[in-house]
Amino acid sequence: MILSTWLAALTIVAAPLQVMAAKNHDFKLCQQQSFCRRLRGIADRASKDEGFTSPYSLLPPVPNKGGSAGASWTFPMKTSLYKDVEFELQLDILEQGDGIARIRVDEVNSNLSWKRYNETSKWALLEAEPARADLSSVTEKTSQGGKVNTFNYGASGDLSLEIRHEPLLITFKQGGETVMIINDRNLFHMEHFRRREDFFFEENNENDTIESAIDGAEGDQVVLSPTGKEKEKVDTKWFEGEPDKDAFEERWKTWADAKPKGPEGFSVDITFPGTEHIYGLAEHASPLSLRSTDGSAEGTFSEPYRLYNVDIFEYEADSPMSLYGNIPMVHAQTSKHSVGVLNLVGSETLVDVKHPKSGVQTQWMSESGIMDLFILPGPKPKDLFRQYAGLTGYTPIPPLWSIAYHQCRWNYLDQHDVLDVNRRFDEEDIPLDVTWLDIEYAAEHKYFDWDKKQFPDPVKMQNEVGALGRKMVAIVDPHIKKSDNFRVYKDATEKDIITKRNDKTSNFEGWCWTGSSVWVDFFNPKSWDWWTEMFSFKVWEDSTKFLYIWNDMNEPSVFDGPEISMPRDNVHYGGWEHRDVHNINGATFQKATFDALLERESPKKRPFVLSRSFFPGSQRYGAIWTGDNMGTWEHMAGQTAMLLSLNICGMTFAGADVGGFFGNPSVEMLIRWYQAGAFMPFFRAHAHIDTKRREPYLFDEPYKGIMRDTIRLRYQMLPVWYTAFHEASLSGAPTMRPQYAMFPEDSLGFAIDDQYYIGDSGLLVKPVTAAGVEDTVVYLSDNQPYYNYFSHRVYPASKRSRHVKVPTPLETFPVLLQGGYILPIRARARKASTLMWRDPFTLIVAVGADGNASGRLYVDDGDSYDYESGQFVWREFKLDGSGKTSTLSNHNLATGDQAAGDLVKFSPSSGPWAEGISTVQVEQIVVLGLKSKPTSVQASGTDLEWSWVAGSSASTGSEGDASKLTIKNPKLKIVDDWSITL
Ligand code: NOJ
Repeated sequence: MILSTWLAALTIVAAPLQVMAAKNHDFKLCQQQSFCRRLRGIADRASKDEGFTSPYSLLPPVPNKGGSAGASWTFPMKTSLYKDVEFELQLDILEQGDGIARIRVDEVNSNLSWKRYNETSKWALLEAEPARADLSSVTEKTSQGGKVNTFNYGASGDLSLEIRHEPLLITFKQGGETVMIINDRNLFHMEHFRRREDFFFEENNENDTIESAIDGAEGDQVVLSPTGKEKEKVDTKWFEGEPDKDAFEERWKTWADAKPKGPEGFSVDITFPGTEHIYGLAEHASPLSLRSTDGSAEGTFSEPYRLYNVDIFEYEADSPMSLYGNIPMVHAQTSKHSVGVLNLVGSETLVDVKHPKSGVQTQWMSESGIMDLFILPGPKPKDLFRQYAGLTGYTPIPPLWSIAYHQCRWNYLDQHDVLDVNRRFDEEDIPLDVTWLDIEYAAEHKYFDWDKKQFPDPVKMQNEVGALGRKMVAIVDPHIKKSDNFRVYKDATEKDIITKRNDKTSNFEGWCWTGSSVWVDFFNPKSWDWWTEMFSFKVWEDSTKFLYIWNDMNEPSVFDGPEISMPRDNVHYGGWEHRDVHNINGATFQKATFDALLERESPKKRPFVLSRSFFPGSQRYGAIWTGDNMGTWEHMAGQTAMLLSLNICGMTFAGADVGGFFGNPSVEMLIRWYQAGAFMPFFRAHAHIDTKRREPYLFDEPYKGIMRDTIRLRYQMLPVWYTAFHEASLSGAPTMRPQYAMFPEDSLGFAIDDQYYIGDSGLLVKPVTAAGVEDTVVYLSDNQPYYNYFSHRVYPASKRSRHVKVPTPLETFPVLLQGGYILPIRARARKASTLMWRDPFTLIVAVGADGNASGRLYVDDGDSYDYESGQFVWREFKLDGSGKTSTLSNHNLATGDQAAGDLVKFSPSSGPWAEGISTVQVEQIVVLGLKSKPTSVQASGTDLEWSWVAGSSASTGSEGDASKLTIKNPKLKIVDDWSITL
């Protein structure tokens, strides 16, 4: 390309920037990144050239008979771009179990000594190597396009992968139907390693400047033959485009990115035929169903979805810009099937989405590393959740207190303030479990070192909070103050575990809250034991067992770095560049902290670590939140879609700053935030240091009372949430479920992302996210009645999906109970969740259209690992309305042969917790929607106390107050098998 064209391209790029908000200037657009520009350019050229075809092809496969890894196949890969090959590509096909096929492409035997980063799976997957491989049978046929190998696999043999050799095409079929095509648009490309002089220069003349070489080269690239002597001109321009001046060194603002390995991006296109909706690519502030990114029409984005973890200030409420964490996975949904793909890469990745009539097309563009695709076969959303969790891990059951209410702000000023907040909550009878400390607790932001002026006795303070049955969380960020007086800095430098600059030897230094800082390289195994020691009570003398940890700023955030992060040419353990591992970086920090907390106590307690950054696998190490949102209606509305996207991407323990981090919400907005927050898996109020104090007790009635009731509602529902988390720990299914995941056959629900179900409880919630709202419309898919949780009004069953209007004055919002479910709650208000463990249960039975209902309850001690040895209660309640009388029963699910594998039968006599829970009763049963008044209500032949209010039954077909049977104090235990006849 001649220089003038290159300059012209830059001018075009600059134009849209001028209209953008100031903060966007901190982050790069695709056009401002050489790899993205080059790889997106392939799609541009392909769309303009009807004859465009892939230069890539395969040679016949070679079986690898791996030991424990099982069988896999290697296809040597060729490219017509570089005939006289000086590098080799290799495509591996492996099976991971549960029908997951893995397709890996790597550059091997480069005549340069570089390697592509191939360790991403080590961080993300439960096991780096495939568990088993069923892709043992392969057939070969020759069709029009050349040779095709077909693998038939999957438990029922209904999955197939067809690999066409030339040009490269991979087709995935479910039951004979094509549901995913790789390289359908011929955009697969892996930029091979090359020398700078081979990339630009006609003559290998060291005195040439890049510019003069570009002028001279005019798009024909010169490649060394294997001997390195002869030279051959190859036309690569039609595919690779003009030589890119920035391929070997890139400048942006004041930063230079030295790229010693030159261009090593890769692109792959994946098409989902017959689909309108794809979901995933968390984390973005955008609708759940992914939009087109070609800027073709209103409502589309013009930038690809960007996956590059960054610390973004005041992020936009509707944008494909990158946020703090990322899961490079999408699910594609039709009313017949669901299929997913995980593209496991640790470097920056951008994804273009298009919605032609025939389906959804995607192009994935990554800066470096190997291509490692996992095809998740479905065929339903619940299967995708299980398949992804089987690969990357299940969310462990969190400590019970960590799913209760958290009160945070930047910052509680001193020890007195912390205790005062706890006192005020108690005085106002508002439940609270956790008080948080942001960065100001630490002297000069040297985490671990308390500011003893403000917190003279942190241990006493923690113990006092602990005595209330509560916990504290303190922040520990990854930047470490560069100061010889700081023991953490001294240790880390002495151990030589600090991330290096591009010279590979000097420590990288940057700026963050604490001033000049360094960052420990958590890719370095030497850092792990050391980090564990840092959290031991002996080493961190000012910490107690009541203190847990918040890991913020771990993208990592570097205030004076490019895009507020680390230079990409920094060097990590193993010699890998930061660009290779950037997206994994934050997860390594949270993992190290989780591992450290796990070692603090014996017997072990479940750790709690909140992280801002994440990557596949992070769900194993704690919670995440959506970062610095704003106290606006628009942001509040957007958080539901974001949390749903995180949930389907495996990050189910997620929440948003209640109230909005920035700004001062009106009391109306704050109440609506609380209502939304009470139904987020992680429920924490948080606020920026410049905002007004907004703890719920500061408000007058009726507002304070509404917030109190909302927080109490969360506590009533803790058994529901805990049971949902237990289910997530076994099945991978999220605790927050979007409409499409609940009703995958109902395409009318596929775009809905402002209402959701909680686990498998039957609870349907829709936060109110606008001012002055009096009613809210909720979409119902199924032929079941729905009951308003607060008013007990019934919205009758209907064969057709429908919208219902729910009255939502300020004190209420849509919380509906799906007919056919039984909800176990704990109705008594307490000051903290830890004080509820012996409280009785209330069962709310929402009679289904067929007269039946069921529900589950899981309980354990809430913070130890004793559940692994059977210390838990797992019950199923059933209403059988098929006969003349109905029967409500309670039976044990913990029989020891459940999906959990090793779980043994609950034994109520062993240990104090088991003894305590064995006396807990059901204090009330409310049955909504029974057809007619029972003639008697008895348990084991004994009459129970009950009352009846007539009303609409589940099947009358008209909206009205539901009939209500209330059974008072039936004197039945939660751990016993029993039945009641109605
Ligand atoms: C950024 C975090 O997103 C925010 O929640 C926190 O309050 C500030 N850092 C200060 O630590």
